[in-house]
Amino acid sequence: MRTYLVTGGAGFIGSNYIHYMFRKYGGEIRIINVDALTYAGNLENLKEIEKRDNYTFIRADITDKDAITKIFAENDIDRVVHFAAESHVDRSIKDPEVFVRTNVLGTAVMLNCAKAAWELPDGSFQEGRKFLHVSTDEVYGSLEEDGGFFYETTPYAPHSPYSASKASSDMLVRSYMDTYRFPANITNCSNNYGPYQFPEKFIPLVINNALQGKSLPVYGDGKNVRDWLYVEDHAKAIDMVQEQGRLFETYNIGGHNEKQNIEIINIILETLQEQLADDDPRKKLVSRDLITYVEDRKGHDRRYAIAPDKIRAEIGWEPETMFRDGIRRTIQWYFEHEDWMRNATSGDYQKYYAEMYK
Ligand code: NAD
Ligand code: TYD
Repeated sequence: MRTYLVTGGAGFIGSNYIHYMFRKYGGEIRIINVDALTYAGNLENLKEIEKRDNYTFIRADITDKDAITKIFAENDIDRVVHFAAESHVDRSIKDPEVFVRTNVLGTAVMLNCAKAAWELPDGSFQEGRKFLHVSTDEVYGSLEEDGGFFYETTPYAPHSPYSASKASSDMLVRSYMDTYRFPANITNCSNNYGPYQFPEKFIPLVINNALQGKSLPVYGDGKNVRDWLYVEDHAKAIDMVQEQGRLFETYNIGGHNEKQNIEIINIILETLQEQLADDDPRKKLVSRDLITYVEDRKGHDRRYAIAPDKIRAEIGWEPETMFRDGIRRTIQWYFEHEDWMRNATSGDYQKYYAEMYK
């Protein structure tokens, strides 16, 4: 039975990945989820699986070398999938230091502990051990409105403290692969959306505000472009890269689904109108009048767009969820999980840990 150490598994993508892995492998794998439960970590995301006997949650900070060393010492870890990070650009502009601490130092600790656990006396590594570092397309910087895509060979040019810290963490992983032949992969993915996304991020924020008749803040002219991927397609890609990818390689993940922010808002508003019943009082609140142009984000990257040619050609991964379907599923999920959204916006989700793990 393979044992996975997943960091940041209580966050948005990490929790979706854990659900995906249990759906796919059932009892064939064991998952240890290590998460510090920052404001972005929510154990309610994992309610359905927390009682499985092949799942363990450990509250620990990835910068805590002793705690991470102990986890490797007590468990025979075959795979690391490293999601844990500070992930919100706006927060990084206000408070960059915690991004450096978690994203850079935390990645260094994870690499070092995995290396210490897996290295053999001759400097090679135990057969079959693999580390996957989950990163972002934001490390490549910003594209012109009308030109080009991010390839694995695109030079790094991060602009925000968030993307600079992720770029630094990618460089550390590269250095471990180059220096020690440490068995790793890096994935750089475009923007994700789907269930369990914390409502400070654009898509859940727009859904949540629109349903309450609150204004929908659009930064700048609303024409910045992001390349949106349904989170389950990302989870599947990570698993495929780890199992079928060539070690030491980077794979870009994205689905040629570029949209301006203002287009996203319009699609969400249309979809909400379609999905809300006629007698639902929220239907009257959902309106274009809520769109409010606000001051632009500092250093706001204009356009991101992934060329997923390598992952498609080498591994056969392609996104399966069309954007309209993904948005419908996401909105339906938020309809069915009003408590989750209420708890996430009120901060009540943080009580869950205290109650669950007294
Ligand atoms: P998230 O903010 O929703 O979750 C991050 C998780 O990491 C949380 O559960 C949090 O508690 C945990 N964490 C934070 N600091 C920690 C620490 N010091 N020690 C242990 N755990 C800690 O983030 P997400 O959107 O799920 O992103 C996950 C990863 O995917 C990140 O590495 C991010 O850079 C990358 N990524 C995200 C996107 C996206 O669109 N969200 C796109 C591409 C790549
Ligand atoms: P976000 O979800 O923060 O992801 P990222 O900055 O990592 O791409 O933002 C997505 C896009 O939406 C980005 O161009 C900024 C924009 N945006 C708004 O216009 N208004 C908002 O309130 C937020 C949170 C984001």
